[in-house]
Amino acid sequence: MVSVLFICLGNICRSPMAETIFRDIVEKEGKESSYKIDSAGLISFHEGESADNRMRNFAYQRGYRITHISRPVKTQDFYDFDMIIGMDDDNMSKLRRLRPDDAKAELHKMTEYLRNMDEDEVPDPYYGGAAGFTHVIDLLEDACRGLYENTCNK
Ligand code: 4NP
Repeated sequence: MVSVLFICLGNICRSPMAETIFRDIVEKEGKESSYKIDSAGLISFHEGESADNRMRNFAYQRGYRITHISRPVKTQDFYDFDMIIGMDDDNMSKLRRLRPDDAKAELHKMTEYLRNMDEDEVPDPYYGGAAGFTHVIDLLEDACRGLYENTCNK
């Protein structure tokens, strides 16, 4: 069993998209029982909300349905999950500050798992246009496949 928590700032764009894409891969591989998958945000501003309408629409065009409801990350997450995966450098520095020293969760940045693309962050699409959202999906599809291949034998 591998437990993975995807993190971004608001938990309404990038991390619910990552959670949805990763779950899709895991389900297509028939490995649902081997994974626990969730996402959360570093701010609670959007707590209780569905994912951003633009993210949901671009996701739908690629065949994904995002059903996650935004929630903030909590201290217990660092004890409950094996891997906590942030989207950008700002996410990573906030996660390093929040992680208790005795936690089990290992912190990783999503772009570590890219196989075909070569970028250092999954950029925040919130204040940008359509291209930002489709770019996020491109990066996450590539990185989620890499993450699956990295974890499927654990
Ligand atoms: P996310 O995008 O971190 O990918 O969910 C954002 C969503 C909301 C805000 C910023 C980024 N915000 O400032 O409210």
